[in-house]
Amino acid sequence: MKAKNRKVVLIGAGMVGMSFAYQLYSSGVCEELGLIDFFPEKAEGEAMDLNHAGALVPPIKVTSGGYEQCADADVIVIAGGLPQKPGETRLDLVDKNIKVVKDMSEQIVKSGFDGVIVIASNPVDVLTNALQKFTGFPRNKIVGSGTTLDTSRFRYMLGDKLNIAPNSVRGYIVGEHGDTQLAAWSNVYVYGKRFDDFLATSKYTAEDFAEVEEKVMRAAYEVINRKRATYYAIGLALFTIVKAILRDENTELAVSGYCEGQYGIEGLYIGTPAIIGREGVREIVELPLNKEETAKMQHSAKVLKETLEKAYASLEK
Ligand SMILES: NC(=O)c1ccc[n+]([C@@H]2O[C@H](COP(=O)([O-])OP(=O)(O)OC[C@H]3O[C@@H](n4cnc5c(N)ncnc54)[C@H](O)[C@@H]3O)[C@@H](O)[C@H]2O)c1
Repeated sequence: MKAKNRKVVLIGAGMVGMSFAYQLYSSGVCEELGLIDFFPEKAEGEAMDLNHAGALVPPIKVTSGGYEQCADADVIVIAGGLPQKPGETRLDLVDKNIKVVKDMSEQIVKSGFDGVIVIASNPVDVLTNALQKFTGFPRNKIVGSGTTLDTSRFRYMLGDKLNIAPNSVRGYIVGEHGDTQLAAWSNVYVYGKRFDDFLATSKYTAEDFAEVEEKVMRAAYEVINRKRATYYAIGLALFTIVKAILRDENTELAVSGYCEGQYGIEGLYIGTPAIIGREGVREIVELPLNKEETAKMQHSAKVLKETLEKAYASLEK
């Protein structure tokens, strides 16, 4: 008997969504991909364009249409909503995008969907919290892209500075996917050596690396100033998360996961390493942060909680 096809539905067929979809399409990781967009013709055109490469990739069928596509999907990816304009912070988008997420949540619930939702729309941590509240789905089945992208930027930029491959630098950006994020330096390893030990025997000083953390935080602004949007790297980050879910990989990724006491944070989705598999977040990996890092993480959580409260209040106006 043929196993059930693995199906993903993308909501928001814009630059981020389609960068993800393009990677997914050619990967062989799923057999069905449904596209939904505010502009149905846009989703239809994207589906046609992808399907025309059908002879060149592992078998996959791409459809477009409405939320009925979600009913038998395994994973939904949300990348719809407004993106940042030059000069805007991610938190500036909140009042508009929380309405978009509320509307999407109602339609997803109505479709009978019973899988895992991954969201990238910004401000992603705030919207991840809102998505869980609006859908009422189990907390582990709602996954924000969180600091997956920032963590990749961090490993790339640190590796670049040290002339070491990014995959030989291990470390995380945690907290908000935004201006209050932090590098968890006390948990960084350079080819197996703790970062402090590595520094002690290298020509570098801690100050050399403060600028790396700053560059990671400012990376999206730098790209947006030059090309108006970021999409390839987040597209690949989304693909990595979705692949981990569909293949039940139990891979550690820095997603926006629900903290219940970790880092002293109660009842909030925020960027932290977590184990990702078939059920979404299998468990949160609480990094042993030092005192200063813990304080920064708690500050980030405070900013997110305040923004979330204001966003919920804006819905009632
Ligand atoms: N989490 C991250 O790391 C990260 C990185 C980059 C961008 N983003 C965010 O991803 C989102 C998308 O960015 P983009 O550059 O692809 O923008 P875009 O404008 O290219 O695409 C957004 C798409 O969403 C669609 N859309 C809007 N409202 C919708 C609705 N109610 N239902 C269905 N579709 C809807 C639009 O028609 C458009 O096609 C933004 O919020 C952006 O800030 C997140």
